[in-house]
Amino acid sequence: MCGIVGAVGNKDIVNDLLTCLYNLEYRGYDSAGVAVQLDNSVEIRKVVGGIKSLENLIKNEPISGRCGIGHTRWATHGAPSVRNSHPISNPTVTIVHNGIIDNYTALKTELIALGFEFKTDTDTEVIAHLIELYAKKGYDPFDAVTEAAARMDGLYAFVALFHAHENKIFGYKHGAPLIVGIGNDVMYLGSDAIALSAFTKKIVYLEDNECALLDNISYKICDEHGNEKNKEVREAVAGSGVSIGKFPHFMLKEIMEQPQVLARILTKYISDSSYKITFPNVDIDYTSITSVKIVACGSSYYSASVASYWIEDLIPVNVSVDIASEFCYRSQNICPNCLYIFISQSGETADTLASLKRVSASGAKTLSIVNVEESSIARLAQYNILTQAGAEISVASTKACTAQLMVLALFALQMASSRGDITDSELKSKILQLQQVSDLVYEVLVNEKKMDDIASSIANHDRVLFIGRGDTYPVALEGALKLREISYITAMGIAAGELKHGTIALVDEGTPTIVLAPYNNLFSKTVGSAQSIHARGGPIELLSSDAGVEQLSSMARNFFILPHSDFFSTPIIYSVAVQLIAYKVAVLKGLNVDKPRNLAKSVTVE
Ligand code: F6R
Repeated sequence: MCGIVGAVGNKDIVNDLLTCLYNLEYRGYDSAGVAVQLDNSVEIRKVVGGIKSLENLIKNEPISGRCGIGHTRWATHGAPSVRNSHPISNPTVTIVHNGIIDNYTALKTELIALGFEFKTDTDTEVIAHLIELYAKKGYDPFDAVTEAAARMDGLYAFVALFHAHENKIFGYKHGAPLIVGIGNDVMYLGSDAIALSAFTKKIVYLEDNECALLDNISYKICDEHGNEKNKEVREAVAGSGVSIGKFPHFMLKEIMEQPQVLARILTKYISDSSYKITFPNVDIDYTSITSVKIVACGSSYYSASVASYWIEDLIPVNVSVDIASEFCYRSQNICPNCLYIFISQSGETADTLASLKRVSASGAKTLSIVNVEESSIARLAQYNILTQAGAEISVASTKACTAQLMVLALFALQMASSRGDITDSELKSKILQLQQVSDLVYEVLVNEKKMDDIASSIANHDRVLFIGRGDTYPVALEGALKLREISYITAMGIAAGELKHGTIALVDEGTPTIVLAPYNNLFSKTVGSAQSIHARGGPIELLSSDAGVEQLSSMARNFFILPHSDFFSTPIIYSVAVQLIAYKVAVLKGLNVDKPRNLAKSVTVE
């Protein structure tokens, strides 16, 4: 999604802006640009494509200045083009923006009637013209920014550079992330701490409706009424040392990191001597909880779905799982005795954040499970558990998902044990099982070459099905999502038992099905589904353990043997297997694995 940066200092800041933009590349974007202040005007350079192209353009057409802003754009309003890319300018102000102005059509109509001319298809131009409108009415820059913001609906953040006010930049946050970074001789604004990580770890996090004013030696943060806020300066933990190392892609690096990540989570949250699970600052009284409601998007939603099986298996409470974009606008009563859990790798996903805001406003208990410590979701939720996966750069989430699963397993055990739903010895035995997971994942990864046959068998197909049952059903959904997003194959995840209710009509010789068949209490049921696919000539790519492969291999075109697994480890190791399939297929197809088309890492628009 769009990334925004700003810098003002006592030196030329163009290279700093470019570095920040390189650090924002992981979010996904299709065009980029920078603007620097020049006397009473600005110089702008914009490209469609990567930051490297922007850097080359600046080499050919140099700019320099002590005050500037920059942007990576993920197109929403208007196609990716130089015309629509940011910074967007009028004679008074130049803007970079992240998010969506929901009422932009009405505002645009009003501004056109007032004589403003629109040169782009973006909603961003509305911000620039509104600010100019108020500036022309005599408002000072701060008031022009806050007046304009008061007119706009939606979730957004923007940074403005006023041409007539040298060496000052203004940032405004309303729903989308924005931070101030305190450097040695430069002050920064950015979408996240990763953007600024090359220059500073000293970060001030803006809250909604706060406006930051930066000059080359200081910063000031005010609420929308102009009252100055005294904000804590925090040490950023995110973003340092994210390098690709010896790997060809971040996705592979992140897949391979999973054994260490899973082990780290256990060390962090379990005290070895007593087998006690402790999440710092999470002191929820679980005895009063009548049901658990989990809200998330994409892969995080599938992690939540796996957890719903685990929690209901261990604890006599109902668990519901909602897609955040549906949850936030559905009529429903927020229940005071429910625990609402919000799961997000980035902690910035706009739909999940909007849902959290809705529940928070009702006063119900909210717990976030996020990977980015200082993210908006982590800061807004009443309680927070960090997934400890480390920075995830590849757009397709891998280690962050298995980290979510591990944290959710621990959460389920802690909740069950604190309510007396499981005994201490049951708790200990489950923790001992969890301590094996990292080795099991390692075993999958050292055998990754054996996945090549499955990958090459499906790489040339346009349509692929995934089936799974029980807590492996969400993994089938996750496998299909991973394959869709990085290899652009139409892939569907289906509950194995649901196949016969319609989707089996898709089965033919040209439609392979990845059968997730852990050798557990549901295995024989999955065999039935596999048989009905085989009978119709559908090629089967089998994922199972030794015992399962022995029974099913005669039906399978290819198989991959997974280690024998138990209650918690099954969805985790099958997740790793489907990640490998998606990765290998994308590589075979020669696609941009880490930055698939049209996708963004941090989805900060609703
Ligand atoms: C899939 C993927 C997305 C995210 C989704 C939610 O590989 O990465 O589906 O899971 O956009 O993002 P977070 O977890 O950051 O809220």
